[in-house]
This record gives sequence, C-alpha cells and structure tokens, in this order.
Amino acid sequence: MAFTKTILAGVCAAALAWSVSAVAAEKFGADRHVARGVACTVCHGPDMKNPNYPDEQTCVQCHKKDALAAKTKDMKPVNAHAAPHNGDCTLCHLQHEPTENYCAQCHKFDFGKIP
Ligand code: HEC
Ligand code: HEC
Ligand code: HEC
Ligand code: HEC
Repeated sequence: MAFTKTILAGVCAAALAWSVSAVAAEKFGADRHVARGVACTVCHGPDMKNPNYPDEQTCVQCHKKDALAAKTKDMKPVNAHAAPHNGDCTLCHLQHEPTENYCAQCHKFDFGKIP
C-alpha cells in the first residue's frame, strides 16, 4: 500500500511538473496584448491594486463587434461573434489562461483553435 502511494505520488509530481512547464511556455492573450502596447491598465483601469474585471465593453473599445462579426462570417459551425447568447468575449477569450470553448457546455460546436 505504502509502495503504491509512493509510485502514485511520483507520477502526480511528474504530471504536475509537465503541465506547469507547458503553461509557462505558452503566451496568453494578455501577454500578446501587452506586447502590442495594450497596457494592463487599458483593460483593468488605472488602479492595478484594485483591477477592474474586464467585460465585453472593455474589448469592443478596440474590437468593434459588427466589424468582427463580418470578418469571421465564415466561421464554422456558427459565427461565435454573432452568437444569439453567451457572446461575452472573455467567456472564450480568457486573457491569462488557455482560451475556452464556452458554447461546448451545451452545443456540439467545434471551432478549432480559439486565439
Ligand atoms: C465561442 C467563443 C468566442 C466568443 C464568445 C468570442 N470569440 Fe472571438 N474568436 C473565437 C474563435 C473560434 C476565433 C477564431 C476565428 C477564426 O479564426 O475564424 C475568434 C477570433 C477572434 C479575433 C481575431 C479575429 C481575426 O481573425 O482577426 C478577435 C479580435 C476576437 N475573436 C475578439 C472577440 C471579441 C471582442 C469578442 C466579444 C465581442 C469575442 N471575440 C467573442 C471565439 C469566440
Ligand atoms: C486598446 C485596444 C485593445 C483592447 C482594449 C483589446 N484588444 Fe484585443 N487586440 C488588440 C490589437 C491591436 C490586436 C492585434 C491586432 C488584431 O488582431 O486586431 C488584438 C488582438 C486580439 C485577438 C487576436 C488573437 C491574438 O492574440 O492575436 C483577440 C482574440 C483579442 N484581441 C481579444 C480581446 C479581448 C477578449 C479583449 C477584452 C478583454 C481585447 N482583445 C481588448 C487591441 C485591443
Ligand atoms: C486585453 C485585456 C487585458 C490585459 C492587457 C491584461 N488583462 Fe488582466 N485580465 C483580463 C481578463 C479578461 C481577466 C479575467 C480572467 C482571465 O481572462 O484570465 C483578467 C484578470 C486579471 C486579474 C484577476 C482580476 C480578478 O478580479 O480576479 C489580474 C490580477 C490581472 N488580470 C492582472 C493583469 C496585469 C498585471 C496585466 C498586465 C501585465 C494584465 N492583467 C493585462 C484582461 C486583460
Ligand atoms: C447554457 C447552455 C448554452 C450555452 C452555454 C450556449 N447555448 Fe446556444 N442554445 C442553447 C439552447 C438551449 C438553445 C435552443 C433554444 C433556443 O433556440 O433558443 C440554443 C440555441 C442556439 C442557437 C440557435 C440554434 C438554431 O438552430 O438556430 C445558436 C446559433 C446558438 N445557440 C449559439 C451559441 C453560441 C455561439 C454559444 C457560445 C458563444 C452558445 N450558443 C452557448 C443553450 C446554450
């Protein structure tokens, strides 16, 4: 029993180390925005000790929704930027962690890679 536990602990530690390094190697949306000159305060407001939680209004300052929906009109299986509901940008485009297919909670939509 003690032996099994030791093995499991070893496996878990290895898996954890791998996932941490995989995450560290990846750049998230916020990093890419900052690299393009979009400062933390543009999304979070001037007081970074009390950052605002960004919402769709934050994003559409720069990414106009109509223009975006037109640009991705051929997105399959549906145009996520013309979603009838749950279209809030940060549900899918998380900025400090991997992006997520939020629609998949209820729909079998496969968008491929979400930037
Ligand atoms: C289903 C989750 C989802 C939601 C919600 C969503 N997007 Fe997207 N977005 C995507 C996917 C998938 C792509 C890739 C589309 C493609 O490559 O055709 C994308 C691409 C983009 C791009 C790059 C477009 C380009 O080709 O230049 C921008 C900018 C963007 N989204 C901004 C937004 C903003 C702003 C909102 C909110 C108004 C939003 N998205 C809501 C899934 C989503
Ligand atoms: C001050 C302007 C600005 C704001 C605010 C902003 N973005 Fe961007 N974003 C850019 C620029 C510039 C690019 C690079 C050119 C492009 O794709 O339009 C970009 C690119 C993107 C892309 C394409 C993927 C990539 O990284 O290249 C996505 C997705 C995106 N933004 C989502 C968002 C979301 C979600 C928000 C709100 C939380 C947001 N943006 C807020 C300026 C902004
Ligand atoms: C393009 C917009 C954008 C930029 C630029 C950005 N963030 Fe964020 N930030 C977000 C979004 C969206 C969230 C919500 C969680 C997520 O998407 O990962 C968030 C969440 C956070 C949170 C957690 C806030 C809470 O209330 O839970 C902190 C802290 C934070 N960001 C710090 C930073 C710092 C520091 C920078 C600059 C290095 C930065 N952010 C740049 C969009 C941005
Ligand atoms: C919490 C569950 C849930 C989530 C999350 C969700 N949807 Fe839906 N969606 C539904 C339900 C239930 C219906 C059917 C009811 C109706 O037609 O109004 C529906 C209907 C739709 C339709 C109409 C289907 C048709 O046949 O015309 C579209 C398009 C759609 N959703 C897109 C999206 C997109 C894009 C996302 C992600 C940005 C999303 N949904 C996220 C539950 C969800």
